[in-house]
Amino acid sequence: MVFRATFDCLWCGTPHAVRAPDDLEGYAQLCPACVGRAGENGFLRFRLKAALAERSAALAGQASVEPPPEPALGSAALAEDLSVEMQAYYAARAAEYDDWYLRRGRYSRGPVHDLAWNADLDAATLWLDGLPVRGEIVELAAGTGWWSTLLAGKGVLSIYDVNEAPLDRARERLLAHGLRAHIHVRDAWAEPDRLVDAVFCGFWLSHVPRRRLAEFLGLVRRWLRPGGTFAFIDSRPDPHSGAADQPVSAEEEVSSRRLADGREFRVVKVYWQPDELEAALRAAGFATAEVRTTSRFFLLGSARV
Ligand SMILES: C[S@@+](CC[C@H](N)C(=O)[O-])C[C@H]1O[C@@H](n2cnc3c(N)ncnc32)[C@H](O)[C@@H]1O
Repeated sequence: MVFRATFDCLWCGTPHAVRAPDDLEGYAQLCPACVGRAGENGFLRFRLKAALAERSAALAGQASVEPPPEPALGSAALAEDLSVEMQAYYAARAAEYDDWYLRRGRYSRGPVHDLAWNADLDAATLWLDGLPVRGEIVELAAGTGWWSTLLAGKGVLSIYDVNEAPLDRARERLLAHGLRAHIHVRDAWAEPDRLVDAVFCGFWLSHVPRRRLAEFLGLVRRWLRPGGTFAFIDSRPDPHSGAADQPVSAEEEVSSRRLADGREFRVVKVYWQPDELEAALRAAGFATAEVRTTSRFFLLGSARV
């Protein structure tokens, strides 16, 4: 956590300039209003706690000393903080999220890589279109609804996300295509409230921490009727998958993500291997499981109950 004299608040985006060189706001990169609300919000509380520790170290003349090691990701507290931080990241990124799909701005990686990206995206779309997804369909962590238009044409679709901002984009997208879906804020970890015929997740399994994969797949299994289908698309660790300033690490479970305005967040990002996902799906009670890859960028997985 570095001290910044001027910054855009990590939570609400308001520009702020500190009044003194040891202002807590400068360490937390939160505006005074958000610092004041830290008691009611896990992400703000986490930033404030870390800022207090950082400022104490700096004031004690220890600024140049190595910061204390972060607790292991296995720690429930850090996992909870990361989950809140990840939600904040995607809420703030909603307006620029589709730039990633469309290879716009920071996500444009040159004609050769972008061509390969588009070919893989086409392959993923054709693959999803060909799956036996029909009836009542639930899309978890649906984001801006990139895949929702395809799914909405196949059955009665409900799209859920923990953040309102990406769902607003999804609503606009569906309306523009003359399509309908039930759109609600809902945590992907919430217990199912009914049985459905298909569950889809785009780029969500990679945000499930390793230690919680079995738990999440069990939850998906509980959503599904006998004969139901679980389908997902996710990331492979290609170095040209994200923005140029966003290094890809297949070893680390926590990655750093930067927005166009420079704000930085940490997210869980696990690059699963097809065979480990297939084994985990079978262990979760799916009768069949098939996970394959596109040529460079994506994992394509489906499993039947
Ligand atoms: C990588 S994006 C994927 C969006 C979309 N599925 C797609 O394929 O383009 C991850 C999404 O997960 C959402 N999210 C983060 N934490 C969540 C949670 N606990 N429950 C539901 N959605 C969550 C974010 O708001 C974001 O829209």
